[in-house]
Amino acid sequence: MDIFVIRGGKPLSGSCRVSGAKNAILPAMAASLLAEGPVEIVGVPVLRDISTFGKLLGILGSEVTRGFDASGTETVRIVNGPVSSMEAPYELVKTMRASVLVLGPLLARYGRARISLPGGCAIGARPIDQHLRGLEHLGAKTSLSEGYIEATTDRLKGASVRFDMKTVTGTENLMMAAALAEGTTVLSNAAQEPEVCDLACLLRAMGADIEGDGTDEIVIRGVQTLKGARHEVMADRIEAATLLLAGAITGGDVTVEGANSRYMGAVLDKLRESGAEVYETDGGVRTKRAGAIRSVNVKTAPYPGFPTDMQAQFMAYMCLGDGFSIISETIFENRFMHVAELRRMGAGIDVSGNTAAVKGVPKLSGAPLMATDLRASASLVLAGLAAAGTTEVFRIYHLDRGYDLLENKLCSLGADIERVKE
Ligand code: EPZ
Repeated sequence: MDIFVIRGGKPLSGSCRVSGAKNAILPAMAASLLAEGPVEIVGVPVLRDISTFGKLLGILGSEVTRGFDASGTETVRIVNGPVSSMEAPYELVKTMRASVLVLGPLLARYGRARISLPGGCAIGARPIDQHLRGLEHLGAKTSLSEGYIEATTDRLKGASVRFDMKTVTGTENLMMAAALAEGTTVLSNAAQEPEVCDLACLLRAMGADIEGDGTDEIVIRGVQTLKGARHEVMADRIEAATLLLAGAITGGDVTVEGANSRYMGAVLDKLRESGAEVYETDGGVRTKRAGAIRSVNVKTAPYPGFPTDMQAQFMAYMCLGDGFSIISETIFENRFMHVAELRRMGAGIDVSGNTAAVKGVPKLSGAPLMATDLRASASLVLAGLAAAGTTEVFRIYHLDRGYDLLENKLCSLGADIERVKE
């Protein structure tokens, strides 16, 4: 297994380009199951989750090919074949929970699906009750047998669905299912994340009738068929924010080309509150930090609130704050796995329930660290970049799920980081 070796203490500077958003590409790949023709997704980085999803679509009978468009941008082209299987197998689903996103499209297009019930993961139980209840409202019959969800329907019928809580993939699954249902579906208390809107754009390009995406009420009028489409996926707002934080935590000056500040307001506001300068550049976002890091409080929330996917990275930054920072994680029940590792670097963090109290320290010391989940890994890398001495981050396969060769981007900003074989 690969590890990162980081020699910290160097301010990062310069610019790098953000990649396409993992959490927009995965639902877009799922949506291809709805299309009668090829779907081409443009701006697709090489990420483990994306190749895993490609394998899943292959099992379901699709032909998935990577390539480049005329401008040399990475693409993924998906052509549905005769569906050879309706099953998303356990060995795939257990490595990538987003596999649940094929449930809605398979039901809508073929009337049946057999999906391994995703187990929990490092950050929480991650149930899918909202997905199942919503699909049942649209007329699906679901049952659980041998760890698999079996779902069938003659034809999905539009209905009103109110989610008990904001669920990103729950909203996406229901939007895709409703696109081919008979009649109108209204999703209330829908997730408003930009990735939901990005999926709605693709579905509209395929011929779906969807409005209200980006608000908490989405109306979908079912159509008979959906055609293939070409879709330029949105930039990854979490990768962009992580790279900006790499500049802020090291006291540098970093520009992320392609970052869309419109989707990053909550994080950019907290960066400014902490004393960093944040500028919109022509086609990107720049952050610069010269003075002290002011400790600020953060509470994660569904979009447009502070994203839970940035909580671990921001905590690393607050470890070097000038006072106390209270960080509350309201989305997942176990998303503080990075705390124990940060403590090993000398961070002053006390956790009580879903709240972490971070007392800033003058410096962190490099140490051997263990990554546990995707965003916790990014948090440890950021801490290593700022720490005095050498940090080794083990199990960075977690990181490779959602960051496209992060070490290359950080090296281009002057970081001393290398990937070595364990
Ligand atoms: C998506 O996960 C993202 N993944 C996550 O990103 C992200 O952290 C999360 O949304 C929140 O923004 C993808 O888009 C592929 P949820 P998702 O359903 O959809 C509870 C990353 O690092 N819930 O919005 O699985 C759930 O337990 C990943 O890129 C139910 O109880 O998250 C959680 O507490 C991590 N029942 C809350 O809702 C359900 O049926 C929000 O979960 C569904 C969700």
